[in-house]
Order: sequence, then structure tokens, then C-alpha cells
Amino acid sequence: MTQTFVSVDRHLLGLKDLGPDEIRSILDRAAYWEQQPNKVTPLLNGKFVANMFFENSTRTRFSFEVAEKRLGCEVLNFAAAASSVEKGESIYDTVRTLESMGIDAGVIRMKPIGLLAELATKIQVPLINAGDGNNEHPTQALLDFYTMRKHFGDIRGLTVSIIGDIQHSRVARSNLWGLLKLGAKVQFCAPKNMQAPELAAYAPYVEMEQALQADVVMMLRVQLERHEKGMLSSAEEYREHYGLTVERAARMQPHAIIMHPAPINRNVEIDDELVECDKSKIFTQMAHGVPIRMAVVERAMQ
Ligand code: CP
Repeated sequence: MTQTFVSVDRHLLGLKDLGPDEIRSILDRAAYWEQQPNKVTPLLNGKFVANMFFENSTRTRFSFEVAEKRLGCEVLNFAAAASSVEKGESIYDTVRTLESMGIDAGVIRMKPIGLLAELATKIQVPLINAGDGNNEHPTQALLDFYTMRKHFGDIRGLTVSIIGDIQHSRVARSNLWGLLKLGAKVQFCAPKNMQAPELAAYAPYVEMEQALQADVVMMLRVQLERHEKGMLSSAEEYREHYGLTVERAARMQPHAIIMHPAPINRNVEIDDELVECDKSKIFTQMAHGVPIRMAVVERAMQ
């Protein structure tokens, strides 16, 4: 089966600038890849992909690698800590170096916001955003949409509550941009000092009890590594006011699901007992990362 994608733009920098048809096209192609009985296909034999992670990752890095290998790519894994970045080499010079060696696409995770868009104007090979600062994490949101669509049949009309550290969350932003395009309603719930006021024009901030009544309750990790000192007074206090506790989960709607991009701070934003409960899709989300990234890597090199 072959399928033509809607757009000819082969970068994937974020969902803010991606149309709903193209998002649906990626989800459809992921469904195709999920159904394939063979683990490996020769589709992209002879193509080289570099995974360039300037920030730590487990899920995104490994699911890109699995996806690329399943498509038959040659995979180069770059870890900043073992590279010349440690000697002061810039991200641009690193990406330019790999491009000059003949890679066909690059997957990049980095801290700076805005740099990826700039790189995309200077680098000739397609670039895929694997998370940039608190800006966007498009493939995480795509696998989240895939999980919602597979569970509910359609995303249009769903209410999705995104709860927690909105200010530092690229997952919240990519979900917001994509979900609105797909016809879902998004609402946020967060302590005052973890809110992103600039997003309030797109999704309201609601109290925890209202957030619990959504179809999808998406919990976010408290991103301590991005916090200024003193943002979180204590893990216990956070759990008491904004954690998905067993008691709160019991007040969710019977059909509703729990999501979390992970990694998880167990017993801070979500109780340990809920991580693998019947309502939880957390490990299902991780499994969906592979077909989604197969669709995205294929799109980059079509
Ligand atoms: N969800 C996510 O991006 O996880 P990693 O940081 O482990 O890639």
C-alpha cells in the first residue's frame, strides 16, 4: 500500500504550523505501520539518519532508533556528552558536520528555543524536532493523538485536561496546537507559578475538580530541571493540590483515560497505583511512539 502525504515540507518542527489534514495523514500512516507483521522493511535501505540529542531522553531517542531500524535506515546516534560539544562546538556546527558527511535526515532534541527553526533555513536535509526547550515536542503529541483516536475512535469533540507544569511543557504546547486543529477542547489546570499566561487565550485554566471531568486527563511531569529555585515547595504539597491521587481518579468519568508523556515522578503528579491501572494509557502511549515515528521518518525522506 502506498500513500501520498499532503505536504511537501519534509521538516517537522512543530504542530503549530501543521494542518489538520497532514496530522491525520501521519496518524493514518502510523496505523498502517502498526499493522505490519514484519518488524523490518527495506523501504529506506541505504538512507542515513542521525539522532542528535543535546538533552537527555529515553523514550524519544530509542523509539526513533527502533522506528528508523524498522524502516531499514542506517542509524547514527549522537550523544552530546560524548561529542565535541563538550569542547564548545555549537549545535549548528555539529548538525552542519553531520550534514556534510551525507546524512539524509536529522532528529534533534535541544534546549534553545527558536534555534531549530533557524537551523531549518540553513540545513538542506529534513530536520525532525524531538523536543526543543518548552516550545514543541511534535512527535510526542502525535503519539498522544494516535492513542486518543485509537481509544475513542475520533478526537473531534473530546475534552482534554492537561494538568501540571504547563509553563515548562513542550508536550502541553504541541498537544494544544494539534488538538485544537483536530476539533478537541483543551483545558489546563496548574498552580499559578506553573501556568503559561500566553496560552490562556487558547485554552482556559480550570480548577482540579473540573479538570477531572474530561475525557482525557493528561498529567505532566514537574520539570524540576527547568525550575527556578523555590518553584516547588514540596512534592507532598504538590501531590495534595495537583497530583492525580487514587481518590481523585475515582471521581473521573467511567469512560475517561489517563495519559502522561513520561518520565513519571511517581507519587508526585500521579500516584504509583495509577500508572498501570485500567484507565492508564501511559505504556500504550510509549508503544505508539514507534509507528508514529516510522510515519514521521518516512515522511521526512519520501
Ligand atoms: N516523553 C519523552 O519525551 O520522554 P523522553 O524524555 O524519555 O524522551
